[in-house]
Amino acid sequence: MAFEPFEHKEYSAEESVARSAQFREELSGRRSIRHFSRRAVPVEVVENVVMTASSSPSGANMQPWTFVIVKDPKIKRDIRIAAEKEEKEFYTHRAPDEWLADLNQFGTDWHKPFLETAPYLIVVFKINYDLLVSPAGVKTVPRQGFMVIHRPIIKESCPCRKTF
Ligand SMILES: Cc1cc2nc3c(=O)[nH]c(=O)nc-3n(C[C@H](O)[C@H](O)[C@H](O)COP(=O)(O)O)c2cc1C
Repeated sequence: MAFEPFEHKEYSAEESVARSAQFREELSGRRSIRHFSRRAVPVEVVENVVMTASSSPSGANMQPWTFVIVKDPKIKRDIRIAAEKEEKEFYTHRAPDEWLADLNQFGTDWHKPFLETAPYLIVVFKINYDLLVSPAGVKTVPRQGFMVIHRPIIKESCPCRKTF
């Protein structure tokens, strides 16, 4: 997302109190969800979520991430298998007993069926390199210093605009 300068809006004290209370109310309902319905969700909802996340601050607006929206059951299954392999290692060998004791309250373990149940998965990739687009073509370059490449996310032309 291209850098956009801040636009200041003035609010009265009352409005500021009301808006901040509404914002607190809204965010106080946020929870980590570990059980999902299979019910279909309009992809626009997921795109709005990704667009919101991709407006996060990043050093020099480098946006070192790529979001991929996954819908394909086979790919969701592959992700589940890979995640469960890691989680099983974590729960059986890596996690100290104290950490496992702290996790008890959530009833979590290495099984992650929700990775197949949820209608969409949003996979976030950290970018360790950049695509350099030039008349000579596209090539990958390791991320160096403050090289900013503005590329839209989920716009028609964007190479990552594919729903798997
Ligand atoms: C860095 C980080 C790692 C987390 N790892 C896990 C995890 O492996 N499994 C899990 O079920 N929840 C995980 N959580 C979710 C936390 O358990 C959850 O944020 C915390 O219990 C507060 O609950 P809430 O998000 O519903 O307010 C993680 C949260 C953060 C910020």
